[in-house]
Amino acid sequence: MPQSLPDPVLILDFGSQLTQNIARRIREMEIYSEILPHTVSAGELRERKPRALILSGGPSSVFEDGAPSIDPGIFGLGVPVLGICYGMQLMAQILGGTVVSAEIREYGVTPLLLEPDPSSPWTAFSPSSPVLMSHGDTILKLPPGFRKTGHTRSTPIAAMEDRKNQFYGVQFHPEVTQTLQGVPFLKAFLVEIAKISRNWTLSGYIDRQIAEISATVGNDHLICALSGGIDSTVTALLCHLALGDRFQAVFVDNGLMRAGEAQQIVHDLTHLNLPLIHVNAEKTFLDRLKGIRDPERKRKVIGKTFIDVFWEEALHLPVRPRYLAQGTLYPDVIESISHKGPSSVIKSHHNVGGLPRKNPFLLVEPLKELFKDEVRRLGKELGLPETFIRKQPFPGPGLAIRIIGAVTPERLRIVQEADRIVREELDHSPHAAFLWQYFAVLLPVQSVGVMGDQRTYENVIAIRTVSSQDGMTADVGEIPYSALKHLSHRIIAEVRGVNRVVYDISAKPPSTIEWE
Ligand code: XMP
Repeated sequence: MPQSLPDPVLILDFGSQLTQNIARRIREMEIYSEILPHTVSAGELRERKPRALILSGGPSSVFEDGAPSIDPGIFGLGVPVLGICYGMQLMAQILGGTVVSAEIREYGVTPLLLEPDPSSPWTAFSPSSPVLMSHGDTILKLPPGFRKTGHTRSTPIAAMEDRKNQFYGVQFHPEVTQTLQGVPFLKAFLVEIAKISRNWTLSGYIDRQIAEISATVGNDHLICALSGGIDSTVTALLCHLALGDRFQAVFVDNGLMRAGEAQQIVHDLTHLNLPLIHVNAEKTFLDRLKGIRDPERKRKVIGKTFIDVFWEEALHLPVRPRYLAQGTLYPDVIESISHKGPSSVIKSHHNVGGLPRKNPFLLVEPLKELFKDEVRRLGKELGLPETFIRKQPFPGPGLAIRIIGAVTPERLRIVQEADRIVREELDHSPHAAFLWQYFAVLLPVQSVGVMGDQRTYENVIAIRTVSSQDGMTADVGEIPYSALKHLSHRIIAEVRGVNRVVYDISAKPPSTIEWE
């Protein structure tokens, strides 16, 4: 019998940028956690059988009109509760304490001074460990039954507890690395106070998903669009294990991939015995992109062409599939349930998960409970080669958004050759370990140069090397000047049509990682 998901630690979200971090830190401790909107009722929560509740931080003030709150019945469920920052203030307010605007706002890292208490669950911690504070409000009066357990130089009540009811509150953020003892702190709450066993592993997940996919699809057929990325590939592997020959993967090759990549994807996936249709649609994509220079138009055309090609293929299979598998991940699900509204669209991202909701198939999304690092681990368990798992992220619209201006076969060749050199030089260098992405961009300018005794008037390549945790923000991933000079030398010498190389030294924000 496949195992079911462990009873979760539930995190109620009040709109903090850090809520996902809380869930990830807990999953890393092998404890299953999920995020729910703060509007969930106590009754709904009881049905989920949580082992502990965490109230996240958030940007509001508990005393302002319309501030997000919770069903007070949550404190009657008999489950340990930890409030973090806004969550602590809300707990204090609901349970009878007083929260006020702080005289001195506290932003940054500061020592947390723990009250001496030999029976405290935090006795193992240093009495003045650095913690990240980020708040403008503060607790003036504790709720009945609570006592103060810590303070900082500017915040008199920075930690509180009602041990009898297992309610704990901290003004600092244990979910960030700047709080040195943050992870042990969360672990002490979950393992020692809430007595949760650490049983969230991915081996049980594979069996459970296979059973679920089989039960959902029954005797029907399922199709999956592969992009060559880790999410769609792991989705396909799970579905294939569940359905055997009632599964079909389709790889729409848009011709906009890096040099040799389409062949490598087909090689790796057929090696794993995945039933794969490789549709070479380069001509269709390049024809439809002809003359288009606007970045958003390019993205839209590529997205639409992808859907046209994929559906054409899907609808002409010998047996028409009823189901479509997508590699939706947990952060996409969180985004849709989060307290915050959708953030403004900077770029219309396109990938195989970007099929329109209105489609002729029923959806199967076997990764929707997982974070990216968990998908990588799953891929490893399913036999994907390390080179596949460690691949750099690659945008759905491919090299089209690294060719600034019009996409032509000649400009595609130039960026592919320059990109191949960047990868050859950096893939096996010590720099690769700290770089999130490194690539070449073809600029829409020509510059004068001299080769031999001849004047040239040719293209410019920009090199982009970035470091990042998740692609949301990024910094310049600095590589030594000598490596840059070597790259420039090789690109100009080897790529016909390029006579100048420049280096992009912009961080995100205000720039983005890709140029379009
Ligand atoms: P930006 O350029 O928005 O990129 O800073 C952030 C990360 O996302 C990747 N990216 C995409 N990934 N479909 C994807 O699957 C897309 O349309 C897309 N556009 C950008 C980009 O490579 C970087 O890692």
